Amino acid sequence: MSLTSLSVAVLAGGRSSEREVSLKSGASVVAGLTEAGYLPKLIEISKEGHWTLDGAPVALSPGQGLGDFDIAFPVVHGPFGEDGTLQGLLESIRMPYVGSGVAASAIVLDKILAKQRLEQEGIPQVDYVGFTEADWLSAKDAVLAAARCLGSPVWVKPARLGSSVGISRVDDPASEGLVDAITTALTHDPRVIIEASCPGREIEVSVIEKIGEDGARTLTTSSAGEILLPDAAEGEWYDYDRKYKPGGMELAVPANLTLAQATAVGETARLAFERLGCEGYARVDTFVDGDQVLINEVNTSPGFTETSVFSRLFGADGVTYPDLLSELVNSALDRHARSARFTF
Ligand SMILES: Nc1ncnc2c1ncn2[C@@H]1O[C@H](COP(=O)(O)OP(=O)(O)O)[C@@H](O)[C@H]1O
Ligand SMILES: [Mg+2]
Repeated sequence: MSLTSLSVAVLAGGRSSEREVSLKSGASVVAGLTEAGYLPKLIEISKEGHWTLDGAPVALSPGQGLGDFDIAFPVVHGPFGEDGTLQGLLESIRMPYVGSGVAASAIVLDKILAKQRLEQEGIPQVDYVGFTEADWLSAKDAVLAAARCLGSPVWVKPARLGSSVGISRVDDPASEGLVDAITTALTHDPRVIIEASCPGREIEVSVIEKIGEDGARTLTTSSAGEILLPDAAEGEWYDYDRKYKPGGMELAVPANLTLAQATAVGETARLAFERLGCEGYARVDTFVDGDQVLINEVNTSPGFTETSVFSRLFGADGVTYPDLLSELVNSALDRHARSARFTF
């Protein structure tokens, strides 16, 4: 079978607040794969979690794969998609898929677990305090005291969301504003993280992985891009509107970095990808402050339209969108073929 006659199930939508973003990524991935010569179809996951293909329900059976599809390409962001649950389901039905596996997806989407892993690996990042709703209910004062040691401002976030949903910047952590921000974050997730603020520039880099015959892997990083917020007032940040409203952000690519900074960003991104156990692809977001590179977060299922940051960063290096998608499908198939050699 030639690669390009492969049928690809592009999974998009999903139950999280990033559903609309995912549907845009999904439509774009279908168009790009078609251009690359594949036979893709969109499987839409509804807000309630139902799967439909051309409007008809999709039946799933353990071990039976996914209809006649050869491979799945999940582009679902946030909880129930990017967090290992969808990946676990695909493993259970025995379906090869693009992107990170169960454990890395689960760890990376959880900002507390990801920070703990990066800390173990000695990869620089901002200081933070992670806690659960149960901790908050039983020890509010201890949580507030720990958060107030982080300086100001602080950033209060649901641990497992994306697109800046539920995040507050608290300029005066000694104020009631901190409690309000925690209360807001807790409406999205029983796990909350509070971070010290990083004054650095926001620099993002895309990473893709190739698997060799012998299982060795090569990580390729794109040019780094800088997130710029045109006409931003003092204190404005990269919030939901800035991310998705036309003209809200500008991507400067390649970012205006010194060679030493650009090299450090690439190395940090590769290290984070590898140590977090990511597979396939990811976008690594950093803060660059002088000669210091701190990881902000890694996204195992970043926005994936043709004009999303992930694709544009590789686009700047001359990798077209269809070629990028093709690489990811091929790399997932190589990994899957290799996994048949293991005895479980
Ligand atoms: N510790 C921090 N220091 C400075 N800015 C931050 C910090 N954390 C978040 N921000 C701002 O908030 C944005 C969203 O935070 P992020 O952790 O990337 O959440 P999401 O997963 O929703 O993208 C960042 O892109 C940045 O503009
Ligand atoms: Mg982010």
